[in-house]
Amino acid sequence: MKRALALEPFSRDHNDGLHLARALKEERPEAPVMISEAWDRELADHFAEEERLLGPLAGDDAARLYEEHRQIEQLIGELPKSCVALGQALEDHIRWEERVLFPAIESRMSLDEEANLIHETLKMEQRRWANCPSRAEIVQRRLDRIQSKS
Ligand SMILES: [Fe+2]
Ligand SMILES: [Fe+2]
Repeated sequence: MKRALALEPFSRDHNDGLHLARALKEERPEAPVMISEAWDRELADHFAEEERLLGPLAGDDAARLYEEHRQIEQLIGELPKSCVALGQALEDHIRWEERVLFPAIESRMSLDEEANLIHETLKMEQRRWANCPSRAEIVQRRLDRIQSKS
């Protein structure tokens, strides 16, 4: 299913997250450094924004969202011995969000909630990727689509 425009930025992060999860599961030597750089660059922000923006829309799934974020944070703190467990937890969490949480949110958010989410995720992306040319271009393309819709 095509991801709603409002949730696209999170799904884009998930593509990167799955690459990271694979590196961790395969215990590649560079994986712990990759994840700690990703944490500083985007992952901590991704978690915080999902909780702030999606938590209120997640209904009964909110508890699992918060709980799995805390588990993943804890496993990051236990690197390098937690490498494989962390990779698995990250992959499972992303798959659950993509297959269960996001479709549930898409099916029940109101038009106002969707408009707010589009606005807030745009701010998130512009803040985070302003200095990353390849990603900034993707952000701009999404902005063009948002503007052509309104
Ligand atoms: Fe998450
Ligand atoms: Fe996520």
